[in-house]
Amino acid sequence: MKKPSVCVIVGAQWGDEGKGKITHYLADHAHLVARFGGGNNAGHTISFGGEKFKLHHVPSGIFFQDKLCILGNGMVIDPQVLTEELEGLRKRGIGGENIRISDRAHIIMPYHRYIDRKQEETRGKHMLGTTGRGIGPAYTDKVARSGIRASDLLDSELFMEKIIINLKEKEALLEGSGLTAEGIIAQYEPYIEAMKSSITDTSLILYEAIKKGKKILMEGAQGALLDLDFGTYPFITSSNAIAGNASVGAGIPPWSISQVVGISKAYTTRVGTGPFPTELNDDNGGHLLKVGAEYGTTTGRARRCGWLDAVILRFAVRINGITELALTKLDVLSGIDPLNIAVAYRHRGKRLENFPADMKVLAECEPEYIQMKGWTGDISGVREIAALPQAARDYMKKIEELLEVPVTIVSVGADRDQTIVAPFSLLSVSS
Ligand code: GDP
Ligand code: IMO
Ligand code: MG
Repeated sequence: MKKPSVCVIVGAQWGDEGKGKITHYLADHAHLVARFGGGNNAGHTISFGGEKFKLHHVPSGIFFQDKLCILGNGMVIDPQVLTEELEGLRKRGIGGENIRISDRAHIIMPYHRYIDRKQEETRGKHMLGTTGRGIGPAYTDKVARSGIRASDLLDSELFMEKIIINLKEKEALLEGSGLTAEGIIAQYEPYIEAMKSSITDTSLILYEAIKKGKKILMEGAQGALLDLDFGTYPFITSSNAIAGNASVGAGIPPWSISQVVGISKAYTTRVGTGPFPTELNDDNGGHLLKVGAEYGTTTGRARRCGWLDAVILRFAVRINGITELALTKLDVLSGIDPLNIAVAYRHRGKRLENFPADMKVLAECEPEYIQMKGWTGDISGVREIAALPQAARDYMKKIEELLEVPVTIVSVGADRDQTIVAPFSLLSVSS
């Protein structure tokens, strides 16, 4: 067996950190790219060669014909969305035979989407602000052992039986939905046909590749604070977004993971509801929204924006085992002076250094900030760390000090080319 080389890429905040861009950037050096969690609640934007792509189900390695792209067992998959996404890509000359879907992945059904929206309506002012894609109800069915898996799509009799049981189980919730088993089968038939040949035991493919020492990228979806266990519950998604789930959600041995790259914006954003200690409702927040074009890839909603929060990031480093950080959207901070970074919270006179579990506590937390000097000018054309303004380098160095992990990649624009790979940790150089 060769030395295993799995690199897990995870969001270190509330999602939308730029995982798609960084996965695509790193995919050049990988043999295989796999998703291990989430579904089409994810929206990963990739820009290169003057073109822009938005991926929801498909791993960001799809642009390389020679890389196998895997949708792991930990995902929930909407057959219509996946088929249309792949068709859209093919029309633009991307992808072909390099997609594999885990036979153990769960399928998002029309009733999941219906229940997702109904549940949000029922929650009223306590709504979570889900993406409405049926994610929560699909994962609920997985845990309840009522779920339909990709392998079930290959047996039309079994598929029909499972739909009938599900509609019966959920009768009260689905009243007035007009959903019938026949209707669902008819709707899904063409998508199942399109997916069929790609459904297989993907964990086996990954294991064989690991044994040969092939470089594998595991592309996370969402982020640490949306994680089912460690996120800002209940304002989270319904799957584990942290690196540990790469093993469960793709069926790979934990020992095969050699690297965990955390992706963080140079500031903080979140979509949906829930407490957000460093949120800015002033001109600086307006700057981040406008210059950062902070609108959701999946739902188009304006993202809430705020200062960088090292309490969150330290937490993300710890629960993910992040070995290095990719810092994105540094270009967006140009023109804001001074810059704040939260280093702790104040709660009822007490100083908290660790991210709290209780959302009532988090909602009452006041961030304790350190101030950093800002910089001006367009840095989106910079291609080496040494050419960045001193204040930007100091900002990055401070992040490394606070998190105790090196910043190894810096992104200064949405395009693939607007990426700087740091040759070493800034901590090791004097400014
Ligand atoms: P993901 O869900 O983590 O893949 O992130 P999204 O694609 O949802 O959101 C990140 C957004 O920021 C996308 O529109 C990217 O094109 C864009 N982006 C990524 N990196 C940079 C960067 O360094 N600078 C700027 N200005 N935009 C970036
Ligand atoms: P990527 O992979 C940002 C958020 C939703 C909502 C909560 C629950 O692009 O980073 P869900 O539909 O999952 O039940 O919604 O989670 N959310 C995301 N926010 N980026 C994402 O994915 C997200 N996926 C889910 O906005 O607050
Ligand atoms: Mg996104």
